Amino acid sequence: MVCEASICDEASNRRSECSALFSGNYPLVTRDHDVVVLGAGLAGMRAALEAAREGADVAIVTKVHPIRSHSSAAQGGINAAIGELDSWESHAFDTIKGSDYLADQDAVEVMCREAPRDIIEFEHMGVIFYRGPDGKLGTRAFGGASQARTYFVGDITGQALLVTLYDQILKAGVKVYEEWFATKLFMDGGACRGLAALEMVTGELHLLRAKAVVVASGGLGRLFEPSTNALICTGDGYSLAYRAGAPLMDMSMVQYHPTTLAGSGFLMTEAARGEGAYLLNSLGERFMKKYAPNKMELAARDVTSRAEATEIAEGRGIDGNVLLDLRHLGADIILKKLPQIHEMALDYLGIDLMKEPVPVRPGMHYQMGGIKTDVEGTTAITGLYAAGEVACVSVHGGNRLGANSLLDTIIFGRRSGRASAGYAKGTPASGGGEDLLRAEQQRLEALLARPYTGETCAGLRLELATMMDQKVGLYRSEKGLSEALETLQRLRKRYENVAVSDKGRVFNQALTFVLELGFLLDCGEAIIRDALVRKESRGAHTHIDYPERNDRDWLKHTLLTFRGDQEPQISHVPVTITRWQPEVRTY
Ligand code: FUM
Repeated sequence: MVCEASICDEASNRRSECSALFSGNYPLVTRDHDVVVLGAGLAGMRAALEAAREGADVAIVTKVHPIRSHSSAAQGGINAAIGELDSWESHAFDTIKGSDYLADQDAVEVMCREAPRDIIEFEHMGVIFYRGPDGKLGTRAFGGASQARTYFVGDITGQALLVTLYDQILKAGVKVYEEWFATKLFMDGGACRGLAALEMVTGELHLLRAKAVVVASGGLGRLFEPSTNALICTGDGYSLAYRAGAPLMDMSMVQYHPTTLAGSGFLMTEAARGEGAYLLNSLGERFMKKYAPNKMELAARDVTSRAEATEIAEGRGIDGNVLLDLRHLGADIILKKLPQIHEMALDYLGIDLMKEPVPVRPGMHYQMGGIKTDVEGTTAITGLYAAGEVACVSVHGGNRLGANSLLDTIIFGRRSGRASAGYAKGTPASGGGEDLLRAEQQRLEALLARPYTGETCAGLRLELATMMDQKVGLYRSEKGLSEALETLQRLRKRYENVAVSDKGRVFNQALTFVLELGFLLDCGEAIIRDALVRKESRGAHTHIDYPERNDRDWLKHTLLTFRGDQEPQISHVPVTITRWQPEVRTY
């Protein structure tokens, strides 16, 4: 047998026989840290940096190189009320109205109050934000905002923040286990004490023990097809935490972005509309005047996406799309402030944004729900914290405002890093975990040994994602959601027959794709069950059988708690209102 792992010197030194890789016949590899962070996007790296600043020994586990994390795809910018004419209260109100009043207002207050300080800190770390002709930090308008308060770096803001933060964590001595794939959280006496992870280059399974774990593994966008999300956004953290006992909150709140590129579903940043681009129907009309006469193209995303869907459904679309027209902005703005989307339209559709409008349609973009946390990232599980898209604080409620997600990552990443390090300081190191590691080794061995039955991972994943888009997408119905749940349960059964086509150990993506599909199935089920429960329309959850928002019965969050083979337990907690009572929402 060819020992693929022998191409890796380090691996072959550790092991003489790669056939014993998962079998338990080689020494179990454990490593200990104070804090282990799962995910190296903005929330994960910000958490790690803060925990290291607090004196903790910190490690990051990430299935891709940190700067390939999906935060690098965030284009348009990051919000903060810094200008003299702006205020954190105005930012908070816009965020709460945008959320369709489902956001917890105490958490929104924290985020909006702390935003200016954190953005200035990133500037000091080295992010070269756009500056206007006067030399001062400049802003652009974004959807649902009453002020232009979005700070940006062209249309690569996420990437600019991410590379800067990566420098910082290296400088701070954070250990990065890159291309390591987490398979299970290590629970001990009801507390989270680390995780098992597959070192992808060798195929070796490790136990990383920790006093605290921060899950910051990003979103689940690939549960929908198409999506603006990278292929790595497979809901890993939601599923790992849920199965460990952490409740998921408001999972039905899935955002469709109004401008995703026809065909591929790539993001065409809202910043285009922030800079003044128009949305046109097939008659050449700026149709948003019918749906949001005050904000026009800069209404909140749920409103704009539904408006586009209505235009298309009523026959005023162009091959299932509407048009995004930037021509009047001119070459200077397009090339200086929106160069990436200019290149994307050219590369993928052969369209020059300076000469032609580009076809776009609503596409899945962001999950507002997630692992329930407080503003310190604390979850229901001792020692387990969460931050970023995978968490639900909840600052986005039923609909997130554009450019508030980068803000969420850096504010609540920082806070969860500090809280986890503080908790770790008072917590003794734990031993154990060998049983978990052996069980995980056997599970992976069994997966690899499955015979091929004709069921493929790629086929199943596409069926799941297409079904989610059709039945659990922009519009939902009782019938569609019930069918979706039945389909998902059938897919889950078929998932048990999916074989891993590659039997090797080195960088076995056939294996990790199968594990990811398991995570996606958990997330899909949580979204459908949450949507079936919520008998109203609010934010991104548009239920055609219950078309109105119903504050009397539904101004509350839904929690799903995993119960093994039984259906999850469903419970509710009230929305926290501090000073903004729900109002009719118009733009
Ligand atoms: O359109 C965008 O640039 C996306 C930003 C966001 O989702 O926050």
